[in-house]
Amino acid sequence: MSKRRVVLLPGDGIGPEVVEAARRVVEASGPEIEWVPREVGAVAFEKYGEALPPDVLDEIRRCGVALKGPTTTPIGTGHISANVRLRKELALFANVRPVKTVPGLETPYGQTDLVIVRENTEDLYAGLENEVAPGVITSIKVITETASRRIAKFAFEYAVNWGRKRVTAVHKANIMKKADGLFLECARQEAKPYEGRIQFDDILVDALAMKLVTKPSQFDVLLLENLYGDIVSDLAAGLIGGLGLAPGANYGPDCAVFEAIHGSAPDIAGKGIANPIAMILSAAMMCHHLGDNESYLRIRKAVRTITTERRDVLTPDLGGTGTTRAIADAIVGEVERRRREPVDA
Ligand code: NAI
Repeated sequence: MSKRRVVLLPGDGIGPEVVEAARRVVEASGPEIEWVPREVGAVAFEKYGEALPPDVLDEIRRCGVALKGPTTTPIGTGHISANVRLRKELALFANVRPVKTVPGLETPYGQTDLVIVRENTEDLYAGLENEVAPGVITSIKVITETASRRIAKFAFEYAVNWGRKRVTAVHKANIMKKADGLFLECARQEAKPYEGRIQFDDILVDALAMKLVTKPSQFDVLLLENLYGDIVSDLAAGLIGGLGLAPGANYGPDCAVFEAIHGSAPDIAGKGIANPIAMILSAAMMCHHLGDNESYLRIRKAVRTITTERRDVLTPDLGGTGTTRAIADAIVGEVERRRREPVDA
């Protein structure tokens, strides 16, 4: 069988460290992959004057799949986010972020097992900002029926395919009656064909924030617009122990890009202490997407074994003194062990 080509985007900051860890884990698990390395983010901007060079987009279109590290976006000024452009250009409309308690890592929030389905292409991320008069800025929120229906349908299909019970649409339709009202109405319409199979309800985003930190186990699949999805993702990652644990995937009709929720973490970049688990779990999602369900399960089980049994390799964000290299080595070793014992995988 020919090798599957996957674009490898190390990105900025801790990106190269955690992407390398994820690549090693995938290789240990077995899918036949030919990696196609490319540069994106600040590193690409410095070299080529573009955070997302056109040949990177072309390569992802050709391969259909990419494993991506975080990219740095300057605050207030500077280049446009490579992520926002990547998601728009490749029509990666669905951002899926499973947030699940990791065995061995206690948190005050009890069991969490929810999935964030975030609309990835519009909302305030449309980039329509104007200075209409000195000292007055408008930033336009774009919500369309097409994109809202598309992401709602995706959330219900996801729920069916992954054995989930309920989809909750998150909004602020009491204030943004038109924009969030349309998003909610589309979710209601798309819920109809799933009646009797998938429950549907909705919640104001502010109430969700409170309920999440009170009892996260009450939520299943959360369906959100772009900005709410971004903020709630970080909050939800905090419920299970931090950004180093929460994976993600961006899906479109032709391509999929797998990346952790977290950013480039400039405060710890280059220190060798970044937690690679979120990136490794994103790579596991990629294996599933590539049709290698055994690797998907094997990598997830290996991570769980290491977080439970190898506290000596946990990175500082998890209260340990381990390094990126040490925890990656441990997970690679565990994946190899499980691969030799297929019955366990
Ligand atoms: P961040 O996620 O990079 O960091 C927030 C905090 O979490 C920091 O204290 C960091 O050390 C910690 N952290 C994040 N990932 C970690 C990991 N794997 N292991 C251990 N600790 C980890 O968010 P921040 O600081 O707001 O953003 C930094 C840069 O990343 C910005 O330029 C931002 O635009 C970019 N960013 C990129 C994303 C992407 O490429 N998908 C997503 C989010 C932010």
